[in-house]
Amino acid sequence: MDTNEIRKKFLEFQVKNGHKVIQPAPLVLEGDPTTLFTGSGMQPLLPYLLGKDHPDGTRLCDSQPSMRMQDIEDVGDPRHTTVFEMLGNWSLGDYFKEEQIRNFFKFLTEIVGLDPEKIYVTCFIGNEKYGIPKDEEAAEIWQKVFKEAGIEAKVAEIGTAAEGDKRGIKPGERIFFYDDHENWWSRGGGCESTPIGDPCGPDSEVFYDFGEDKQDVEKYGKSHPASDGARFMEIGNSVFMQYRRLEDGSFEPLEKKNVDFGGGLERIAAAAIGSFDVFKISLMKPIIEHLEEISGKSYDNNTDEMRVIADHIRGAYLLAAQGLVPSNKAQGYAMRRLLRRAILRALDLGISSNFLAEIVPIVADNYKDLPDSILTHRESALEVMLREENAFRKTLNRGIRELNKLSKNNKMLDGKDLFKLQDTYGFPMELSVEECYRQGIELSKDYVKEFEAALTEQRERSQTASKGMFKGGLEDHGEQTVKYHTSCHLLLAALQKIVDPGTCQKGSNITSERVRFDFNCDHKLTDEEKTAVEKQVNEWIEADLPVVFDEYDKEYARDTLKAHGEFWDKYPDVLKVYTIGDFDKPVSREVCGGPHVEHTGVLGKFKIKKEESSSAGVRRIKAVLE
Ligand code: ALA
Repeated sequence: MDTNEIRKKFLEFQVKNGHKVIQPAPLVLEGDPTTLFTGSGMQPLLPYLLGKDHPDGTRLCDSQPSMRMQDIEDVGDPRHTTVFEMLGNWSLGDYFKEEQIRNFFKFLTEIVGLDPEKIYVTCFIGNEKYGIPKDEEAAEIWQKVFKEAGIEAKVAEIGTAAEGDKRGIKPGERIFFYDDHENWWSRGGGCESTPIGDPCGPDSEVFYDFGEDKQDVEKYGKSHPASDGARFMEIGNSVFMQYRRLEDGSFEPLEKKNVDFGGGLERIAAAAIGSFDVFKISLMKPIIEHLEEISGKSYDNNTDEMRVIADHIRGAYLLAAQGLVPSNKAQGYAMRRLLRRAILRALDLGISSNFLAEIVPIVADNYKDLPDSILTHRESALEVMLREENAFRKTLNRGIRELNKLSKNNKMLDGKDLFKLQDTYGFPMELSVEECYRQGIELSKDYVKEFEAALTEQRERSQTASKGMFKGGLEDHGEQTVKYHTSCHLLLAALQKIVDPGTCQKGSNITSERVRFDFNCDHKLTDEEKTAVEKQVNEWIEADLPVVFDEYDKEYARDTLKAHGEFWDKYPDVLKVYTIGDFDKPVSREVCGGPHVEHTGVLGKFKIKKEESSSAGVRRIKAVLE
C-alpha cells in the first residue's frame, strides 16, 4: 500500500466508524501567534477540545500537513523530517479509551496489514506531584486487544527513557509504562511545562519493531520503545485529553473527555513496507531517485544530503503552494532556510544548476492528492522558489568572487576573512573553506578560532553601541518617530480605501510629536471622511497586524506584489518592500527604506488634528499618536 493509499484508507476507515472528514488547516495558521506552523492535527481544533461545539459533530478525522522546524537539525537520520502529515481522529466528548485503542489496532493490522507481533505500546505511569494516577485502564485494554490477537503482552514499569536504556525489555513484554516526558501530551510537553489553560492528558503510543539488529546499543543503550535507537519507531499516539491546566499550576478533570489521535503518515507508510527509513516510501522515493540520477551518486553513499534535500524541498514547496514567499522574518525566514539548506546540500552533491526547476514538479506531483483548500497557490509555487534559488546563487557567486579578490591580495585567508565573507556577502563559512580547498588557496591553521573571535567581537561592538544609544535617550526618540513612520503607511492605505484608490503621498515630515502628511486630493475632506479614515487606521492598530519587510526585484515588487511606490523609474533594481497585515491580502504594501515597528499594536491611538490645503491639488493632514 503506498502513502497516498494509506491516507485514503485511513479516512475511509474513520468515516465507516462514524467520523466526519474535516478540511486540514494551512501550515501557517492565521490568528495563532503561539506557533510558527501547524505542528499537529489538534492545533486547529483547540477551541473544540476545550468544549466548544464543532459544527461537524463529535467524531472528526483528517490528514493534517504539519511542520516542526525544531527538528531541522535531526533531519538526516532515517526518521526525522521537518514536514510530515499527521493522520488524525478525534472524539469530542464521545468515545474514549477502549474504542480508540481497538480502532487504531484494527486499522494498523487489518487495513494497513502490519504484523501484530511487531506492535509495542506505551502508557502513562502517573505523576505523584500533581496527583495524576497511572493509566491502568489503557494498559488493561491493550492487554485484552493483544490477547484477542493471540499475543502474550506482559506489562513493564520503566519510568524514564534513560532507565529504559539501561534495563531494555524482557521476554514477553509488550506494554511499557513511562513518565510524563514520554507519555503525557500537551502542546508544551510534560506535566510541568503544560501551558496554563491548555487541554492535556496521558497518552498511549504505538511503536513498530524493525528488529533488534537495528539498535545501535553502544550509542543508544539497550532497545525499548522510547529509545532513540532505530529498532522501534513511533507510528501513532492516542492522547486521552481528560485534564486542563489551571492558573495555579494544578490539573482539573475536563467535564467532556476527548480523544486526540495523531499518527505520522510517512512513518506508517514506512512500517507498511518494512523499512526503518522513511525516505524509502512512495512520497519520497521519486525525489531520491531523481537526485541519484542528476548527481550520478548513490543514495547509499550520500544518504544524509539526499534526506535533507528531500525533506526541505517538500517543506518549502508546501509553504510556497500555500502562498508564502521567502523573507527575513518568521515563517518566510523558515522557508528561506529550508530552500538555502537544500541548495547547499545539492551543491555538495555537485548539483549546481536546474535544481529546483526539475525537482519541484516531482514534489508537487506527490502532493496532488492534498486538498486545494490548503494549497491555494500551486500554480505560482515553482516560480517563487526559483526566484529564491536565483537570488541565492547570485549571493554564492558574489561570495566566490570576493573570496578570490581577498586571496589575490593576501595569499593566505584567515578566519577574519571568512567572517567578512559570511557577514557582508552572506557566503557561509563552510563554503569558503570548501572553495579554498577546491582552488588550492591556503587557509590559516586557526581559521575556526579566528572566525569565532570575529563573531564575538562584532556582538560586543553592537552591544556597546546600543547601550550608548540608550544612555543618550536616543532610543526613545527613535522609537516614537519609527511609530509615526508606520502610521504614515496606514494613513495612506486608509485614504486609498476611503477617499480615493489613486491617492499618492506627496511628502511627509515626522517629528517625535506628530506626523505631517501631504497627499493628492481634489477636495477638502468631509468630516465623515476624516472620521472614517481615523477609525480605519485605529482598527488596523488594534488588530495588531504584523509589519514585515524584504528585498525584491523591482519588477516582482511592482507587478506581482503590487507594492505602492511613486518613483518606479528611479528605483534601483532591488528594493525593500514593507508589508502590513496578511501577506496575501495586505492592508498596506509600500516600497520603503524603513525602519518600522514590528507590529501595529504598539502605535497607540491615531488622531487627526488638522486637515488643510498644502498647495493646488494637495491636502495636508497633521496627526498624532496618543
Ligand atoms: N496531538 C498528538 C501528537 O501530536 C496526537 O502527538
